Amino acid sequence: MSEQVVSCDAGRLKAFVRQALSAAGLCGEHARIVSESLIVAELFGFHSHGVIRVPHYIKRLKIGSINGNPNIRVVQRKGNTAIVDGDHGMGHPIGLTAMEEAIRLAENGVGFVGVKKSSHFGIAGYIALQAVKRDMIGIVFSHTDASVIPFGGKMPAVGTNPMAVAVPTDREYPVLLDMATSAASLGKILVAKSKGESIPPDWGVDEAGEPTTDPAKVKYMVPMAGPKGYALALIFDILSGPLTGALFGKKLPLMYGDYDKHRDLGHFIGAIRIENFVPVAEFKRNVGIMIDDIHATPPAKGFDRVLIPGEKEYLTRLKYEKEGIPVPSETARALDGAAKELDIPFPFPVE
Ligand SMILES: NC(=O)c1ccc[n+]([C@@H]2O[C@H](COP(=O)([O-])OP(=O)(O)OC[C@H]3O[C@@H](n4cnc5c(N)ncnc54)[C@H](O)[C@@H]3O)[C@@H](O)[C@H]2O)c1
Repeated sequence: MSEQVVSCDAGRLKAFVRQALSAAGLCGEHARIVSESLIVAELFGFHSHGVIRVPHYIKRLKIGSINGNPNIRVVQRKGNTAIVDGDHGMGHPIGLTAMEEAIRLAENGVGFVGVKKSSHFGIAGYIALQAVKRDMIGIVFSHTDASVIPFGGKMPAVGTNPMAVAVPTDREYPVLLDMATSAASLGKILVAKSKGESIPPDWGVDEAGEPTTDPAKVKYMVPMAGPKGYALALIFDILSGPLTGALFGKKLPLMYGDYDKHRDLGHFIGAIRIENFVPVAEFKRNVGIMIDDIHATPPAKGFDRVLIPGEKEYLTRLKYEKEGIPVPSETARALDGAAKELDIPFPFPVE
């Protein structure tokens, strides 16, 4: 059964999200940044971190557990490091401020910035890509509340803790690693549930901590690559929490649950200036050679060709910019409902 979707023009969808977040109390510049991040997520095909999150953000803005007009500021600078205090604002502009500071510090070679008092920042890649515009390598780590079981455990102890690394190339697209450390996102599990499909046994566990292939029974998620994914999630939590002064691990308030609490998330964001190591042109050319060598790999059965991380997102963006972003009808209805409550129009047809 194919999912019902509404095809949405990217520009109009972005304008709607911006208007909705402003109407919910988010200051103008932050509404612009969040709407851009969400639409980039949609265009890359990361629908789990796109407009589906808007009703959640609106709910938290209205309750006040996200500060719509925060004073995001650098509160500490030591050598090539800094700490940014996000004042409990939206994670997207807080992450951007931290990356701008990391890029500034990296004019000296490298810059690393710890972030505290932040919240959900959407796709890590949007922040990492800012460094690429300056011929730098961008690095982003974050943590989330505990929803993933540690390897060998039954109950959650780590988050879906994401990372992104963005690398400039001599191609139309950068190399972009942008991933969660869980085997599959909750979004993918929910899609399988809505289609009545079973899932692989290493995606989720039920209430008793037992592996399940029934998406309706999934209570907690499983780390990618067994102990290695769990270890990565732990390391990203250490960098985002204990190293920055933010909360960490099981102490993080629940994203979907503790609505009256600030998220108190941390991030760890860095930039590396390529020119300090080798000339940028030489670096990009050599990464291009690696891309060509990888593209020359014969495809395995079931594959047309081997892709570079970030290439699928680039191709998806080209397609969606031409054909529109496919927003599931269920999400469109939720956005329409949010728009009605805010007394603004939702500019797409809803069934
Ligand atoms: N803010 C948060 O708290 C949070 C938490 C978890 C995830 N996220 C975000 O969720 C998004 C989705 O994460 P995900 O792990 O589901 O991503 P994914 O599994 O779709 O992709 C992960 C990586 O694999 C690469 N990739 C995918 N297919 C490929 C192929 N055929 N060949 C080569 N490379 C390929 C992608 O380019 C990407 O870099 C990310 O943007 C991540 O930042 C955010």
